[in-house]
Amino acid sequence: MKSFYVTTPIYYVNAAPHAGHAYTTIAADALKRALRLAGRRAFLLTGTDEHGQNIERVAREQGIPEQELCDRNSARFRAVFDSLDVAYDRFIRTTDEVHKRGVLAIWERVAKATAPDGRSAVYSGTYAGWYCPRCEGFKDEDELVQPDNRCLTHEQPCEWTEEQNLFFRLSAYSDWLKAEIESGRLRIDPEVRRNEVLAVIRDGLKDFSVSRARVKWGIPVPEQPDHVLYVWVDALSNYVTALGYADGDPLYREFWEQGGVRLHVVGKDIIRFHCLYWPALLKAAELPRPTHVFVQGHITKNGRKVAKSTGNIIDPEALIRDFGLDAVRYFLLREAPYGADWDFTDDAFLKRFNADLANDFGNLVSRALTMVHRYCDGRVPPRVAPGEDRSALVESCLARYEKLEFAGALSEVWAHVARANQAIVAFEPWTAAKDPARRGELDAFLYRLLEDVRLAALLVSPVMPRAATRVLAMLGRDGLASPDELGWGRLEPGTALSPVEPLFPRKEKPAAAGEAAAPAPIEKKKEKKTVSDAKKDAAPATPVAPAAAAEGVAIIGIEDFVKVDLRVGLVKEAQRVPKSDKLLQMQVDLGSEVRQIVAGIAEHYAPEQVVGRRIVVVANLAPRKLRGVESNGMVLAASPEGRAVLLAVDGDVAPGTKVK
Ligand code: MSP
Repeated sequence: MKSFYVTTPIYYVNAAPHAGHAYTTIAADALKRALRLAGRRAFLLTGTDEHGQNIERVAREQGIPEQELCDRNSARFRAVFDSLDVAYDRFIRTTDEVHKRGVLAIWERVAKATAPDGRSAVYSGTYAGWYCPRCEGFKDEDELVQPDNRCLTHEQPCEWTEEQNLFFRLSAYSDWLKAEIESGRLRIDPEVRRNEVLAVIRDGLKDFSVSRARVKWGIPVPEQPDHVLYVWVDALSNYVTALGYADGDPLYREFWEQGGVRLHVVGKDIIRFHCLYWPALLKAAELPRPTHVFVQGHITKNGRKVAKSTGNIIDPEALIRDFGLDAVRYFLLREAPYGADWDFTDDAFLKRFNADLANDFGNLVSRALTMVHRYCDGRVPPRVAPGEDRSALVESCLARYEKLEFAGALSEVWAHVARANQAIVAFEPWTAAKDPARRGELDAFLYRLLEDVRLAALLVSPVMPRAATRVLAMLGRDGLASPDELGWGRLEPGTALSPVEPLFPRKEKPAAAGEAAAPAPIEKKKEKKTVSDAKKDAAPATPVAPAAAAEGVAIIGIEDFVKVDLRVGLVKEAQRVPKSDKLLQMQVDLGSEVRQIVAGIAEHYAPEQVVGRRIVVVANLAPRKLRGVESNGMVLAASPEGRAVLLAVDGDVAPGTKVK
């Protein structure tokens, strides 16, 4: 079986880890976990980039030795990745001895190599140009922003620099690189990035200098000991040195020399180095090249670049504190296709948390387990054959993970979760439970449902390892996210299920971030009101029940209250009312009939979120038309800070039951 080697960039230790670093590392980790779930041999490498001018400068500014700065900040990266549940197989540091030995071994081969044009791959020359100390790279004129020749990425002035350096003859590798990429021997994804790289080759590749006279913090060049190796030559080599290249480690043979897939996951800021410099250096050294570079998009927040200086940051630690680690991993990988640039907003995070995690996934797990506790004495019912084949789902989901289509893989799991939720509504286990003649049918339904929950947990485990482990533990399958578990029927009949714990309790939006009210509040100055007056006032366009303000609402007697016919309704179907952002049109089962009710909740609930819910309905409200759609009743909802939160019914109460 082909081995699969996945690497992240190694991160600079001159600054603290941030959400961008977390994003790449979580993605690479999810990929590795999915590969392992599929039974592949996979190895994940991450680490820190510790040499070069930047580190030297920051250490000087902080008045500490470089190594101390590196030790301190490298430990921070490691701690953050540990707290993000990143299951790396190796954490490489470029100050590790095994790395330095490896770099020198690679360099030795590059230094004596002959380039494709017959000349030596490394030569001595003078370099003059605009140098960005933060990128650690020279910039072309068109990469500078005026005034002050600022670097496009860092928006800091570049420095005019002249040095007598060693150069690598990249220009001679143009045709070879082009052929590698066009043939797919070096795959670059997404396509737009591949085209970008090909365009850079078309524009003409320039040789680059591979030694630095001005920097001391690095690996000395053997041929010229007063120079250190250019930090990118040093850093890129980590992908090979970390596997013990210099020491003939079997890991190097397995994952690099004879490796099936050698994949670098990188940000779009460092494509040139990974798609051009690195393959050419390896070609010169006559070592195998990466087979695939996947380029991740950049995250902005509220439309602006994430940057400490502007205070526009995504704080992963605060998100983890408020929502839990799994939710953070899930959101980063679900919200946008991996590879695209996208914008992070707190609103989108909260919406996904409540809709996907609390509602769809969390509810499925708790409903399924609660029913087994209630109807089967908390034990797994007898095993039955699958209702439908699930191997296509498993295969397609794992294949999408392997292509780094995390959002796609997760959407397949969510379709499976929605099907399971709908199956509960359609089968009505609470009705079957009343009829002893349907015992066998109920057991079979619940066994299949538990298997569906188990499969959902396994398939989300690459992204949400903790939640998956908790669900599997509740099902009596401890720590078993393994390939063998992907088959049908691994749940042992008779196993006692653990008590149901809520996985993702719904969260409210923080008060400060409140939006304009959706249902109009009752005007306080109007003094005497009956309930029906209050309804008239409060529900202009949307028949969501008004929030009853503490003051200004009339005291009514029970004789008034009983005029309102409140019933439990079960939402069978829902869709948005065309051309309305607010209105949702629902078919609600009221026991003796199915009613069409239109409610102003569409900004807060997607149609699929309400299907299967039990809600409270005002059943004797005169019909009215909203946007041309007839509504026969009104649903009750609370409206904290202008949102609409549906009133829920605690338990499987039959539709049509009166609410008093
Ligand atoms: N040390 C080099 C990489 C050497 S690899 C041989 C480096 N380090 S870095 O600390 O600057 O990390 C860059 C990587 O962090 C990017 O390539 C990307 O993967 C990730 N990101 C940093 N900011 C990001 C965003 N705002 N959005 C998404 N990813 C970002 O470059």
